[in-house]
Amino acid sequence: VAIDRNPRALEFGRLNAALNNLCNIEFRLGDLFEPVEGETFDSIVTNPPFVISPETRYIYRDGGMRGDEICRRIVREAPRFLSEGGFLQMLCNWIEHGEQDWADGVREWFDETGCDAWVLRSHTQDVVAYASKWVRHTELRETDSWIPRVEEWCSYYKALGIERIGSGLINLRRSSGRPHWFLADEAPATVFGACGDSIRGRFEARDFLASISSDEDLLERYFHVSPHARFQSRSVPTPDGWQTEQASLELVHGLSYSGKVDIAIANLVVHCNGERRLGELVNEMAQAVGAEREKIIAPVCSIVRDLVDRGFLLLASAEGHGRPRTHTD
Ligand SMILES: C[S@@+](CC[C@H](N)C(=O)[O-])C[C@H]1O[C@@H](n2cnc3c(N)ncnc32)[C@H](O)[C@@H]1O
Repeated sequence: VAIDRNPRALEFGRLNAALNNLCNIEFRLGDLFEPVEGETFDSIVTNPPFVISPETRYIYRDGGMRGDEICRRIVREAPRFLSEGGFLQMLCNWIEHGEQDWADGVREWFDETGCDAWVLRSHTQDVVAYASKWVRHTELRETDSWIPRVEEWCSYYKALGIERIGSGLINLRRSSGRPHWFLADEAPATVFGACGDSIRGRFEARDFLASISSDEDLLERYFHVSPHARFQSRSVPTPDGWQTEQASLELVHGLSYSGKVDIAIANLVVHCNGERRLGELVNEMAQAVGAEREKIIAPVCSIVRDLVDRGFLLLASAEGHGRPRTHTD
């Protein structure tokens, strides 16, 4: 089902569907969720008119509501239209105030939605840069109207106390019967191809991590290194040969998280083949680095949790099969 308030947008949608040989799309004219009242969906994807502006002239850009109210309203209304476990994904702009942490402005949107929420920030702009970028969409820079229009936008921000505007992707998952989580973090600098699997994978990883009661519980589990993980190291010459100066892990598909890694941890990661318990691998690591097992368990488990959360390590089935478990299992 595809919804738009502008009949012309629906006509373009129909044209694109025909060009792509898609016959299973129903186009409905209407305001936000109004054309689907009473229905639920497994996936809602929206690129709404999220631009924060004093204007209402351009329906593709200006939602016609004060500040970031249109995105807030979509977040508040979407759960009613999601089936259990269903996702909303929305491109979004939000207001950031003063010294406040950027996530504080949006956190409240998700209260009592009955959903887990993950806000991925791509960037933040000060209001002058933001207004200049969007006004340039519709006014030529050379014309007399450009500067007054930017000034008009900036006066609007001043009146509302808006200093910066954040941009990113909101992911919402409806899930009943347990406490909900809210996560706000930075999108990785690089993205490779489609990110749907990475996003769904992180929701599943967080479900799994929430179910782990202790480090000992985690050590009983089986993991599999992601096929998209890559290891890089840089070495310096020494009289005894090359010595590793810096090593890092990176994901080369979807959300491309990366970070420095200790060589011993990198070795543990690559030996996660789904057939040996994490605890066994940590025992071997302790021996290899000459450390006391009990002393390294807490820091290693903390790093493993992070590697699971970011998708470097995938949960294998409890019996220890070699194949990674994916959301389609
Ligand atoms: C940023 S464009 C996105 C267009 C297209 N869906 C896409 O993702 O490329 C925003 C679209 O939202 C439509 N729109 C604006 N206000 C709306 C509303 N209240 N209800 C439904 N659609 C709306 C506009 O007509 C425009 O087509």
